[in-house]
Amino acid sequence: MFRHLVLIVAIGLNTEVHGSNNFDGPALYQITEPVTHAECPSWDGRNNILYYVDVHAGKMFSYDYTNKEITSITLEGAVSPVVQSKSDPDLFIVGLDRSIVAVKWNREDGNYTSKTLATVSDDHPDCNMNDGKADKEGRIWYGTMDQDADTVNHPNRGKLFRITRDDVSTPEEIISPVNVSNGMAWNKANDKFYYIDSPTQQIAEYDYDNENGEISNRRVAFELKDHDLNASPDGMTIDVDDNLWVALYGGGSVIKVNPTTGELLDRFPIPAESVTSVMWGGPDLDILFVTTSRIGLSDDQIMKQPGAGSVFALTKLGTSGLPVFEADIIDNI
Ligand SMILES: *[C@@H]1O[C@H](CO)[C@@H](O)[C@H](O)[C@H]1NC(C)=O
Ligand SMILES: *[C@@H]1O[C@H](CO)[C@@H](O)[C@H](O)[C@H]1NC(C)=O
Repeated sequence: MFRHLVLIVAIGLNTEVHGSNNFDGPALYQITEPVTHAECPSWDGRNNILYYVDVHAGKMFSYDYTNKEITSITLEGAVSPVVQSKSDPDLFIVGLDRSIVAVKWNREDGNYTSKTLATVSDDHPDCNMNDGKADKEGRIWYGTMDQDADTVNHPNRGKLFRITRDDVSTPEEIISPVNVSNGMAWNKANDKFYYIDSPTQQIAEYDYDNENGEISNRRVAFELKDHDLNASPDGMTIDVDDNLWVALYGGGSVIKVNPTTGELLDRFPIPAESVTSVMWGGPDLDILFVTTSRIGLSDDQIMKQPGAGSVFALTKLGTSGLPVFEADIIDNI
């Protein structure tokens, strides 16, 4: 049913994303060295930079698409997600443990300053921020999960919050409770919101009102179990044709889904079992950056999947992404 994937795993930081691949089909490149748990890729088209994190190491990375240079800063805590600001490409709204923090990264000297804007879930101190994005109006949507993801013993501890410029210190609860708040995406018309609470193994669709940033009328758009996919849906993005691209944690692949018909359109194997997230980038938004993890893998498993924990790039997918929205909740710190 699925197209054969041309697998070109090139280890090394200077591998060209558009390489010497003569095939017309999709190609895969490993573009970074592994970290422990790469997550939350975010593309900034202003400088052609991909941002991503190594969550538990507190590291925030930038991958410069033009010269393939990688730089990083280390924050104190678990870091996820990272969203760049509209007012300043070096100002980020970052999830740090269970706080929302503004970070100004001075790339010239490698230093940063930060300021905590808000802290959530005082009733569940073991919660951390997980996936998050900005919407078209620059409001922030960040979700939480219990750190150990033990939803049997610690069920319903997560929430999805929205933060607006009007009251940055008071995140509003949008969906509660959830277990592991994860991928989200808005369609091209910006009237649908897609959302993943990982243990449900579903992709939910809501009607979306952009003016007020409100969601309503939840329905299940895609059910992994209907397609024999026994994995956790994790990060997610959308393409210009309104199809969803979803990282499968424990599924070693990225799937392409039509959320209107519930069809599984394609599946792309990634040489790492734990695929954490996906994000379109590149000057034409036609490269799908894929983050992966090596958490919980045995030495033996790591021998078999040495790229686990790296960022990969999938190219020639025959489509491209929608522009990434920037945070617009503060102008500086
Ligand atoms: C950057 O931070 C380091 C360590 O805190 C400090 O020694 C250095 O002076 C800083 N550089 C600038 C330009 O502020
Ligand atoms: C969270 O997980 C628990 C345990 O699996 C389950 O009973 C509960 O319904 C889940 N909550 C949601 C919102 O899905």
